[in-house]
Amino acid sequence: MERPVQVTASEQAKPALLVRGLRKSFGARVAVDSVGFTIAAGEIYGLLGPNGAGKTTSISMIAGILARDAGEITVDGIDIDAGLAARALIGIVPQAITLYLDLTARENLDFWGRMYDLSGAPLHDAIKGALEAVGLTPRADDIVGTYSGGMQRRLNLACGILHRPKVLILDEPTVGVDPQSRSAIFDLVERLRDTGTAILYTTHYMEEAERLCARIGIIDSGRLIAEGTRDELIASLGHDARVEIGLGRGDSVERAERIVGALKGVRSANVENGHLHVVADHGARRLPAMLTALLDAGAVAESVRVVEPNLEDVFLRMTGRALRD
Ligand SMILES: Nc1ncnc2c1ncn2[C@@H]1O[C@H](COP(=O)(O)OP(=O)(O)OP(=O)(O)O)[C@@H](O)[C@H]1O
Ligand SMILES: [Mg+2]
Repeated sequence: MERPVQVTASEQAKPALLVRGLRKSFGARVAVDSVGFTIAAGEIYGLLGPNGAGKTTSISMIAGILARDAGEITVDGIDIDAGLAARALIGIVPQAITLYLDLTARENLDFWGRMYDLSGAPLHDAIKGALEAVGLTPRADDIVGTYSGGMQRRLNLACGILHRPKVLILDEPTVGVDPQSRSAIFDLVERLRDTGTAILYTTHYMEEAERLCARIGIIDSGRLIAEGTRDELIASLGHDARVEIGLGRGDSVERAERIVGALKGVRSANVENGHLHVVADHGARRLPAMLTALLDAGAVAESVRVVEPNLEDVFLRMTGRALRD
């Protein structure tokens, strides 16, 4: 009988990627301030934050593209400063397309493969595998300048996975792609996860973080302000819930705002496009009181919607601002 492989507690706990105390300033501006997190093999970790939060700066340091002011970065326990072999454990798919537009896809991949010290049959196999993974085999020998934006994004991704890194970093990989390419990218990311790759996924699309990421770090102004599973982050909101009340045309919006805003348990009430947006403790339970107060004031609710809290609400609560500008 085969004996099960013994995994010690320390092995189990050893993350594929460990980042600790990461810091970077540009002149007087602190772009990344004490950022730290770990990612396990086979886990997708999302770094979610608005424009300028410090996502690209953080991952550029992790990928060794940008020098850091401070911080520790290890992959499988190996310091990334240990040399080229350590660096090669990481793959990065940058936010900007980094392809030679006057070369074919195959030639681009050949170039990147050589950068990672691949050659001969292993390089040939790696190129074949990467092209298949992103669904570009039939277009492999076309000039990349003739590709659509989504196809270029997919090739950008292929360049990052060519050398089968243990840790793959994706910087907003779906910006500007159509739903079909987006879904192809999601499938590929999930397949890579399932084969044990640790994935760091940055985005400012809440829906992508919710769909793909086992754990999410929310970054704002260079700091990691919250971390957890989607459910943990939402639970941190307590019992707050959002209610949207559609108002009739003749209703005074300022008055509705004032009346509902003054009710017990209501944290905020703002009118936007004829809808009263209310955040209230146990939102749905306070609905009768809201509707009665409005009716007493002569305003008629034309529609009512209780909105499930999401990561946007977590961000809003922690920063007072919306995730997207
Ligand atoms: N090379 C640089 N020189 C000066 N400031 C920089 C440089 N790179 C980034 N910054 C600044 O650092 C901050 C973080 O930028 P970063 O690109 O990391 O944000 P981001 O979270 O990736 O945003 P986005 O979602 O727009 O890509 C911003 O204030 C930015 O202006
Ligand atoms: Mg960025």
